[in-house]
Amino acid sequence: MARILILDPIAQEGLDMLAAAPGIEYEVRTGLKGEELKKSLAEFDGAICRSGVTITAESLEGNRRMRAIARAGVGTDNIDKNAATRLGIVVMNTPTGNTLSTAEHTFTLMLALSRRVAEAYHKLIGGKWDRKTFMGTQLADKTLGIVGLGRIGQEVAKRAIAFQMKVLGFDPFLSTEQAAKLGIERVETVQEMLPRVDYLTVHTPLTPETTNLVGFPELEVLKPGVRLINCARGGIYNEDALVEGLKTGKIGGVALDVFVTEPCDKHPIYGMPNVLCTPHLGASTEEAQQQVAIEAVQLLINFFTTGE
Ligand code: MLT
Repeated sequence: MARILILDPIAQEGLDMLAAAPGIEYEVRTGLKGEELKKSLAEFDGAICRSGVTITAESLEGNRRMRAIARAGVGTDNIDKNAATRLGIVVMNTPTGNTLSTAEHTFTLMLALSRRVAEAYHKLIGGKWDRKTFMGTQLADKTLGIVGLGRIGQEVAKRAIAFQMKVLGFDPFLSTEQAAKLGIERVETVQEMLPRVDYLTVHTPLTPETTNLVGFPELEVLKPGVRLINCARGGIYNEDALVEGLKTGKIGGVALDVFVTEPCDKHPIYGMPNVLCTPHLGASTEEAQQQVAIEAVQLLINFFTTGE
């Protein structure tokens, strides 16, 4: 029997598949950290997680049993992959399941930020019918910059084009021809894009190259009034620079779904005008969660039953 540990809540459809799989049994233990996590990981052959748990080198230390960890989602940054590799533990992810949901959430934030929906709603429920303060802007005829034109970035581009936006894209792995086919003008550097865009959205992992992609130096080059959206990973935009840019008025708006430190209950950006934040909800749809759970479970079933 291969024993699978479920470390974060996943969709019931995935649990049902595990229950029906011959030679596999599972147990759900969520909210684990420290010694408790380490002890649990040592009792199982495989694990499934989302981003709630952080599997550190310490939590894997001395583990002789765990053979595979499947991440129900894209980013594996909450798993110490070097430590896992040293111990021969395979780390897998499900890169496609939440593409559309994350692209849609990016668009949700872009639209809601442009029309100051959250701020207007808060004022309204506070008893103020204010039609003057919340003057918005249209997306049509504005320029959107997209950094990272993988699955999610491309879906965002398609939606932006449908909204009559001009799209500039930066991605070293996408050719000018491929970009043109998608209706995107490819730029050679992010720097080149910054003075030209009214909206900027990022769809890359957090790497040394993408950390602080927009920071204090970039504030100087950004087009005044630019709106920045991040549904990828906290830290791609420097959070202090965002606060500063909003204060000086250089930045016209910021929408964040992700933060340097998560969970993030308090942040200087919360409550600032022209800001909209959500608690890492990009992939939080019924469809995406069902899909990533099914894909993650299938990966482990294959691994433990067919050795693939
Ligand atoms: C992902 O990497 O899949 C997304 O950020 C969503 C999540 O963390 O659950």
